Amino acid sequence: MERLSRKPIPGFAARTLVLLLAGGFALGACVDEREVFLPFPLYDEPAAAARGFLGYSDQQAKLPVCGNCHVGQHSEWRQTAHAGAWETLQANPNAQEFCEGCHTVGANGNVITDDLVGYQATKEARYEDVQCEACHGPGLDHVTNPDADANKPIASILVGTDLTNGCGECHQGSHHGFVDEWAQSRHGDAASRPQYREREGCRNCHGARGALEAWGVDAEYVEKDGSDGIGIVCAVCHDPHDARHAGQLRFPIDVPEVDVNLCMKCHQRRAVPDPGSSRGPHSPQGPLLLGENVGWQPPNFQYADVQIRSTHGSEANPRLCATCHVNAYDVTDAITGDFVLSVKGHSFKPIPCLNQDGTPDPEADCALGERTFASCTTSGCHGSEDAARSAYIVATNRIASLVQTLDGMLAQVPASEFDNNDNIFTTAEGANFNVGLGEITSSAIHNPFLTEALLTASIRQVMTDYGVMTASDISLANILPLGQQ
Ligand code: HEC
Ligand code: HEC
Ligand code: HEC
Ligand code: HEC
Ligand code: HEC
Ligand code: HEC
Ligand code: HEC
Ligand code: HEC
Repeated sequence: MERLSRKPIPGFAARTLVLLLAGGFALGACVDEREVFLPFPLYDEPAAAARGFLGYSDQQAKLPVCGNCHVGQHSEWRQTAHAGAWETLQANPNAQEFCEGCHTVGANGNVITDDLVGYQATKEARYEDVQCEACHGPGLDHVTNPDADANKPIASILVGTDLTNGCGECHQGSHHGFVDEWAQSRHGDAASRPQYREREGCRNCHGARGALEAWGVDAEYVEKDGSDGIGIVCAVCHDPHDARHAGQLRFPIDVPEVDVNLCMKCHQRRAVPDPGSSRGPHSPQGPLLLGENVGWQPPNFQYADVQIRSTHGSEANPRLCATCHVNAYDVTDAITGDFVLSVKGHSFKPIPCLNQDGTPDPEADCALGERTFASCTTSGCHGSEDAARSAYIVATNRIASLVQTLDGMLAQVPASEFDNNDNIFTTAEGANFNVGLGEITSSAIHNPFLTEALLTASIRQVMTDYGVMTASDISLANILPLGQQ
């Protein structure tokens, strides 16, 4: 570490002081009430060829120049895999020059498009690892004059498939196509309802800006004040300076609480009927998995006071949604063909079709028999893929036939019973909501036992209240298991 200078940074705003203090200012810098003193110089003049990238101030300590001031971001980033990207590469026998651009600081991840900058231009050790400037871009101008608004190296959260910016410039192709998979998923697919990404009442879950706002993330990013709808990009779920949860996630995936769990924060819009509206369930997956406040419960519902949490939502499945929807598989490095990585799929599909090489093909549509049920066998939940597939078929068929029965019965109930403007919430309206729950195919997996119980109880109630009988001799006993063992 360099000698401590007593030079105050000119014009240091009060807000800044708070920012730095909140980060737990440490390491060779001292703060009094009015002035912030930093160790100067923070860096050696970068080579002209580096084009303004600064890299490490102290490589041994993994302290990028930025980390001298942005102490909070640094202490978190330090614990992420990005801070060890160079060692990882060097430890691999296939390491060679063309690998380096993604395991160092340079053009990838920011708006610079000329590859010959940073590490690739200089081969200097100060640019090893995926440091701050990989995503934020070159910092020389900013560090020279930190208070100037114009120079702030603000990161972008876009994940264009044109790959000139953002996480996607590295997280694609070579080892594993996170971006490619994400872009085909409904979190990223441009075709999946972009009209809701900025609509009031919808943007909290359907758009990146709305979600970050709703979660109280007020960090600066390039697109923050824009108005173009942005889908559920990487930086919605991941925060590169948050090491509290594995995988740089903003929120935990292993906490069974709808307002805490990353996935459930959004997947919980309407799980119980709104008496004044005919709207059906809307992303009920979180509450349904946990058996909490979900569906219409007829009077005398036998499980009214019991929380029917499915096995899939219990301690038996600690990663909850992510076990099935973000599950790991092995992939052979595409360029060298020489080594295998274990990666976590980002198509969010639990039972995808497969490519010839055995990797998931999120876009294909194939028969159930050809789909992989591998995510169901992780940590020994299901004995085999075939066992899981049979359980899936039994449950979905059973729910489908209950839905068909109840729907047929409701067709015989007078239309006046479905009037949402009469201030009376009827059995017909409640049962109709449960039909909607059963029509979401995945309810049979997310909570088979409870979905079945709600449907059978609804059928009984429709019989009692309207004298409509079932057309078939369908069993009204609970035959599905609590989970799918
Ligand atoms: C000498 C101290 C110092 C160094 C080194 C430094 N910054 Fe800053 N940074 C600041 C100050 C001061 C601000 C203004 C904060 C404010 O206005 O609230 C700032 C603002 C920012 C912002 C905008 C955030 C905001 O709230 O306005 C980003 C992004 C940022 N810096 C990134 C970086 C990166 C990346 C590096 C390394 C290349 C870096 N900084 C190096 C002091 C520094
Ligand atoms: C296009 C950018 C890119 C290139 C080129 C690249 N990597 Fe990587 N590498 C990544 C990313 C992104 C990850 C993180 C993937 C993950 O966490 O699943 C990674 C991870 C790794 C890992 C860790 C794997 C693990 O199981 O944790 C190794 C080893 C590795 N790379 C070696 C190499 C080698 C060797 C080369 C050259 C043959 C190379 N990389 C070229 C982007 C790249
Ligand atoms: C310059 C290339 C580069 C950029 C840009 C980049 N990454 Fe990475 N990322 C890597 C490499 C390389 C690794 C693997 C490091 C290792 O295993 O040593 C990695 C690992 C990760 C991991 C593994 C998690 C962990 O800490 O264990 C996550 C998550 C991740 N990156 C998310 C992101 C996100 C989100 C962005 C954009 C905001 C991003 N990355 C931008 C290269 C990059
Ligand atoms: C609390 C979060 C949340 C809010 C608020 C929200 N949605 Fe959604 N919505 C979701 C999630 C999560 C999904 C995807 C899960 C699913 O399809 O079941 C979804 C799916 C949808 C779908 C597709 C349904 C289907 O069956 O394919 C439509 C259409 C939709 N939302 C419209 C809207 C509109 C319009 C608004 C605003 C009036 C809105 N959403 C507000 C979370 C939300
Ligand atoms: C993998 C990409 C990536 C890396 C590496 C990264 N950042 Fe960021 N940074 C972002 C993104 C994206 C945002 C905006 C969203 C957010 O903060 O959650 C951001 C936001 C910021 C902000 C703005 C915070 C605010 O309150 O306005 C600062 C400051 C910052 N980063 C500093 C750093 C520093 C210092 C490092 C290195 C120690 C670093 N970043 C490493 C991507 C990255
Ligand atoms: C809807 C939320 C969500 C989005 C969007 C998302 N991820 Fe992830 N990501 C996850 C979850 C959940 C994990 C698993 C973490 C765990 O199991 O520890 C993960 C894990 C990862 C990992 C670590 C993989 C490993 O093998 O350990 C990388 C790298 C990653 N994501 C990159 C990305 C990139 C790049 C994008 C954008 C193209 C992205 N993610 C978008 C939720 C998301
Ligand atoms: C910021 C809110 C948000 C978060 C966080 C989120 N999702 Fe989503 N998810 C959505 C929205 C919105 C859609 C529907 C987009 C559309 O179709 O318009 C969706 C769609 C999906 C779909 C596709 C549904 C289909 O019918 O194909 C799956 C599966 C899914 N999410 C799983 C997850 C998992 C697993 C997690 C946690 C790792 C997660 N989501 C986190 C908002 C979110
Ligand atoms: C035990 C594995 C498992 C768990 C745990 C799980 N899912 Fe699913 N999910 C599935 C399966 C299987 C499907 C059906 C996929 C298909 O048919 O292609 C599905 C479908 C979905 C869908 C598509 C909705 C539809 O139209 O059917 C969404 C959205 C979803 N899951 C979100 C979630 C969320 C959010 C969680 C956590 C609250 C979660 N899932 C937990 C296995 C699981």
